[in-house]
Amino acid sequence: MSGPDSTRSELLAAADRAAEFLKRRRTSPVTGKASAAELREHLEIYDFAAPRPVLDVVDDVFELLERAAVRSDHPRYFGLFNPPALPAGIVGDLVAATVNPQLAVWSHAPAAAEIERKVLQWFGSLIGWDAAGTAGTFTSGGTEANHTALLAALARRYPKWAKDGVAGLGGKRPAIYVSSEAHLAWIKIARNAGLGRDAVRLVQPPGGLRLDGGSVEEAIRRERHFDPVLIVATAGTTAHGAIDDIRGLDVVARRHQAHLHVDAAWAGGGLLNDKVRDELAGVELADSVTIDPHKWLAVPMGAGMYLARDWSPLETAFGVSTGYMPSASVEYRDPYIHSLQWSRRFIGLKLFMALATIGHQGYSSIIEEQLVLGRTLRSQLLARGWRVLNETPLPLVCFAPALTKGDEDVAVRAIESYVVGSGKAWLSSVSLRGKLALRACITSYESTAQDVHELLDLLDEARLHLP
Ligand SMILES: Cc1ncc(COP(=O)(O)O)c(C=O)c1O
Repeated sequence: MSGPDSTRSELLAAADRAAEFLKRRRTSPVTGKASAAELREHLEIYDFAAPRPVLDVVDDVFELLERAAVRSDHPRYFGLFNPPALPAGIVGDLVAATVNPQLAVWSHAPAAAEIERKVLQWFGSLIGWDAAGTAGTFTSGGTEANHTALLAALARRYPKWAKDGVAGLGGKRPAIYVSSEAHLAWIKIARNAGLGRDAVRLVQPPGGLRLDGGSVEEAIRRERHFDPVLIVATAGTTAHGAIDDIRGLDVVARRHQAHLHVDAAWAGGGLLNDKVRDELAGVELADSVTIDPHKWLAVPMGAGMYLARDWSPLETAFGVSTGYMPSASVEYRDPYIHSLQWSRRFIGLKLFMALATIGHQGYSSIIEEQLVLGRTLRSQLLARGWRVLNETPLPLVCFAPALTKGDEDVAVRAIESYVVGSGKAWLSSVSLRGKLALRACITSYESTAQDVHELLDLLDEARLHLP
């Protein structure tokens, strides 16, 4: 076992290596190409028999991770919402791991619990709720936060559900009404809750991307055998950045006494910027909201937030008392009786650290720059003769080449693999109104106008290589 002095030198040396890794970010290829066979062969050196010096292992792991991964922290990674972690967030994770407070109960970690409470309440007021009345919990990510929303909705709707489970539903078939463009973690969530896949009613948005209240109302009326327990507005769809009509969906939710949840897993970070806040108007009407700080707010994974206007559904869904827990305090909102997790890491610290060091205004400016880059990408694609296929104020552009001959889907795939294969940038393709489209999203605080232009040049080059 190492003593305090060697721990100190190991931590300092590991931090130094971490800083070196970050320094190489911009100049590294966006995609590391080691094969599974190469990786497995390399890992053969670890037989876990003889001990190894910690720094040797650190060096080896950094090298492996660099050789064999999509560097989603790269400024020309225009993919999903995995921006590089802000340094304050990395430090927050280091502090959390060092102190390792147990956040199951308030009494074991009052300072940690109060830090989390402060951040959750601050987000509550950003949403437009009374800060002191804001309920919620940090989660591992958006899936757990959305799962929490379903359980809270069931707890509110069916008084016997918490005790009797599906037998307590009075023969009703609970359903989640959500856009067909929503994140399909909803399917896993419905299965986990014992409702089954078909409880997720995927409603087609009228114009293809943005769900409105009328379409959900119609679906509910068509399917009288389902009980609409949860209506979800996705504010920032994963594939196209569409923002559902929150106000329209709220009207439907109230009419059917359903729980309205806004899944703003990625775009919810944009609440820190006034322009995005305006685009998310209506979010304050929600019963609960998902926001993932590990997406647009650039803290290390996993960090999600479930925010709500009322604690009582959480108490009903998660409350349990045991002899071996030091307390079960509703007064102090012990996390283990208000959330899915039991033992729990100090997830909120990395967001607290980032907010405390760069501030609301700092975040707002970062987001502002990304909005500008998104508009630049959009206008430059049009200027260079590409077809832009989605409309959103968020920095997410779906587009395709304007072809005179050949199959569009084949062309999109070919361009995607040219760009990704070059190692100079990363983007993905998504289905949009039945066809494939290229998709580029800007959520890295290190992406610059030069990076966007490099992507545009690469796309033009890829288009020239089409057969
Ligand atoms: C809108 C939306 N909801 C939920 C999720 C799931 O979040 P997580 O991957 O953090 O569980 C995502 C992930 O991209 C998302 O975009």
